[in-house]
Amino acid sequence: MIDLNIEKTLGFISKEKVFAYEAQAKAAQEALENGTGKGNDFLGWLHLPSSISKEHLAELKATAQTLRENCEVVVVAGIGGSYLGARAVIEALSDSFTWLRDKKTAPVILYAGHNIGEDYLYELTRYLADKKFGVINISKSGTTTETALAFRLLKKQCEDQRGKDVAKQVIVAITDAKKGAARVTADNEGYKSFIIPDNVGGRFSVLTPVGLLPIAVAGFDIDKLVAGAAAMEKACGKDVPFVQNPAAIYAATRNELYKNGKKIEILVNFNPKLHYVSEWWKQLYGESEGKEHKGIFPAAVDFSTDLHSMGQWIQEGERTICETVISVEKTNHKLEVPTDEQNLDGLNFLAGKRVDEVNKMAELGTQLAHVDGGVPNIRIVIPALNEESIGGLLYFFEKACGISGYILGVNPFDQPGVEAYKKNMFALLNKPGYEEESKAIRARL
Ligand code: PA5
Repeated sequence: MIDLNIEKTLGFISKEKVFAYEAQAKAAQEALENGTGKGNDFLGWLHLPSSISKEHLAELKATAQTLRENCEVVVVAGIGGSYLGARAVIEALSDSFTWLRDKKTAPVILYAGHNIGEDYLYELTRYLADKKFGVINISKSGTTTETALAFRLLKKQCEDQRGKDVAKQVIVAITDAKKGAARVTADNEGYKSFIIPDNVGGRFSVLTPVGLLPIAVAGFDIDKLVAGAAAMEKACGKDVPFVQNPAAIYAATRNELYKNGKKIEILVNFNPKLHYVSEWWKQLYGESEGKEHKGIFPAAVDFSTDLHSMGQWIQEGERTICETVISVEKTNHKLEVPTDEQNLDGLNFLAGKRVDEVNKMAELGTQLAHVDGGVPNIRIVIPALNEESIGGLLYFFEKACGISGYILGVNPFDQPGVEAYKKNMFALLNKPGYEEESKAIRARL
């Protein structure tokens, strides 16, 4: 399902040193399986793919169908783990230009609640003003400011434009079973709702309704997505020998690179559709490992685009980086470079070749150049951009993240550091209950 190749890290680190992580990786896997490690109340994602029932998928598909039939646009409101997984999958699988067509078969999917940009929200509400739109409001805590603020605007606009009765049909909540404002609103208003399991944290929730509902609304096959993830769950299972387990090898390799001064891991793609997979990955690894003043800094670039911007730094800047390249083996479409009689651009040597062949040579040339320049390179090949392979890729990264975090010695399932800015923001905005913090912060200004 995926081919993981660490050959181009050797020379910077040794295979023996990577394989020496076998015992630690095994211990990490056992801690995950037995729930004996740090953060063990958030392990619900581990066997999620193989435990999702047909009935649950059917309920999600039925709700998706209601939204598809009644909406030209569906706004997914959420932030961080309550948004990035859905966007990663939808953008990886969507036609790049669907939004330019007035496509009647699936609603346009837009996003809100992931920023506090006044212009963004103004322009979104203006765009929606003449659209039949619905909202999927996603928040586990139900109290996240960015999402709650966007939802407040969207709920009112939807009710004003479409009437309360229709709004009830086209607003869906995905939140905690009992707690939080999103749950209370959903219950009071009678919205269809789905539960985010207590034991699944935001950044590991793409295979819960958080990801699955928006993905189904966008017209993608969630059965296949889950099947791909389930196959990867098996391929990375605890009884798979270390050398054959891609998640364990990836976790070991990046920890060994980190130990050898590679403080930054850059996730590279050569396909613009993978941009949001990288965004999702950055959150997964950044929030899971960046604590106790430790952890690789996860960065990402889209090549060949960013070879014309960040390429210089990667080739010749400080040698504290390594790269993990996601390569897509087969494109979904064929396009050949045409011949041009005048050949003013000198590109006739490419005539008749597939565009993807040019891209693949850019990829290979870049890998060799970066390795020569002192950047170790991990390569992950997926067969194609389809539901199965993306489902498998996401689960692979989740499993590897759990193992990697335990090898690093941190709790990969909490995120205490994200509270600091919220406390200051609430104090500065005079939120009731923050009077002391308000005084203290103002004294510092
Ligand atoms: O991974 C996480 O836990 C976070 O990114 C959360 O998903 C994010 O902060 C949104 O939280 P909530 O779903 O409670 O609105």
